[in-house]
Amino acid sequence: MTGPESEGSQVRRAVCPGSFDPITNGHLDIIARATRLYDEVYVAVMINKAKKGLFEIDERIELIRQVTSEYANVRVEAFHGLLVDFCKQRDIPAIVKGLRAVSDFDYELQMAQMNNGLTGVETLFVPTNPTYSFLSSSLVKEVAQWGGDVSHLVPPVVLEALRKRLRQA
Ligand code: PNS
Repeated sequence: MTGPESEGSQVRRAVCPGSFDPITNGHLDIIARATRLYDEVYVAVMINKAKKGLFEIDERIELIRQVTSEYANVRVEAFHGLLVDFCKQRDIPAIVKGLRAVSDFDYELQMAQMNNGLTGVETLFVPTNPTYSFLSSSLVKEVAQWGGDVSHLVPPVVLEALRKRLRQA
């Protein structure tokens, strides 16, 4: 056999990593766009023992599974340690990251170069939909905590989970 089909794995995989505490419409937009470019898209939820989030890792994963259920090629998993190791273990050659603004670029470039230097994994930057260029999980939590309307910024199940969690707090 000649051509690309003879060259190792034919499945094109990518990972969308993050804290996802919780997933927002901005994340979802990047994941959805990645599903159209790759055969398999892993959503990798970072376990950070040093930082307690609003949602437990299992809750974040469950929310992501629910809001990505229409995409048959999305897998959601937790990871700890280095992202490049997660990629190596699953034969994932590409990391997909959304860039909201120029201010994201400095740190993202550093991480992309570090990751590439470690294992050769590539990072692909996708410009965030301008509708979500100001959006972050932290801001969503802050606005929601003080009763602000975030219904246009997160999927309905996430909104419900936020309301429930903040009522408990
Ligand atoms: O949603 P976040 O918190 O901005 O996501 C950051 C994340 C998870 C993508 C980044 O912190 C990461 O890749 N962490 C894993 C640890 C790692 O590989 N560190 C070296 C990066 S060069």
